[in-house]
Amino acid sequence: MNFLSSLDDTSPVPLGAASLAFQTAEPGEGQRWSTWPATIPTERGPEPRPDWLVTSAAAIDTELGVVKTGKEADLHLIERAIPDAAADVPGNAALLAAKRYRTSEHSDFHRSAIYTEGRGLRRTRDVRAVAKGTSFGRAVARVQWAYAEFDALTRLTQLGASVPYPVQVQDTELLMEFIGDGRVAAPRLAQVRADAATLRELFHQVMDFMHTLASAGLAHGDLSPYNLLVHHGRVVAIDLPQVVDVISNPQGFDLLHRDCVNVCDWFTRQRLECDPEELFAELVGVVSV
Ligand SMILES: Nc1ncnc2c1ncn2[C@@H]1O[C@H](COP(=O)(O)OP(=O)(O)OP(=O)(O)O)[C@@H](O)[C@H]1O
Ligand SMILES: [Mg+2]
Repeated sequence: MNFLSSLDDTSPVPLGAASLAFQTAEPGEGQRWSTWPATIPTERGPEPRPDWLVTSAAAIDTELGVVKTGKEADLHLIERAIPDAAADVPGNAALLAAKRYRTSEHSDFHRSAIYTEGRGLRRTRDVRAVAKGTSFGRAVARVQWAYAEFDALTRLTQLGASVPYPVQVQDTELLMEFIGDGRVAAPRLAQVRADAATLRELFHQVMDFMHTLASAGLAHGDLSPYNLLVHHGRVVAIDLPQVVDVISNPQGFDLLHRDCVNVCDWFTRQRLECDPEELFAELVGVVSV
């Protein structure tokens, strides 16, 4: 057994590890030491942790390419693995989705204001900087979005909602479970063509997801067939930095309503009857209990 692979997540950052005589692998181009050991407990995903999670300080992260570039973030695929360890043993190797909030001056943070209302930044200096859109303010906002999405994924995982498991967050990078087959990301609901029975099953899963959130007083806030992946018949919701508290956010009910309209419009176009107003009323009832 590799000595380094027995180090657990309480081990310090392996600063000197590379120089140890028995250390064979060092990060090469497109690689880095696993960033897991450098995270603090609140930056790590919730318990119980999945068995595939790689927490060894000997693990190396390898960049496998960009899955998608977006307005506010780019999604990269990385492999976190212990060199020379059997990849099929849980905890030795895993594919992760790295969502990196953009550092470009041109990032589009127009949606910030409505979602953050009622959420509250802790430091007034940050509030002012974000409001003014200074470069410091934009940096705060990027980190805020990464942590906001991580917090939302954590909360939803704890509620039992179907979302990727949040592995860790650090600065502007969120690492989460990669939903896909091999290195290919699962299709979005918008791309899925399904028979009536399968469609009904997918619809029920989306309804379950919305109910689970509503019963915790939450709404996705940007729900659409583009932010729902379908993986082996299972619907997984993604893109959650803007999850809103329906009651405390002044726009909460409007955002919940928009989620209902987006979801129902798509299912109705697939010939599955869905009345957005009925759904909205039902969810408002759940939120208000
Ligand atoms: N955990 C994941 N596993 C697999 N694929 C993912 C995952 N998260 C995101 N993706 C893919 O990356 C795309 C972009 O992710 P996401 O929607 O979170 O980012 P975004 O920057 O808000 O993009 P957009 O502006 O297109 O909504 C998704 O549509 C999906 O195809
Ligand atoms: Mg998206």
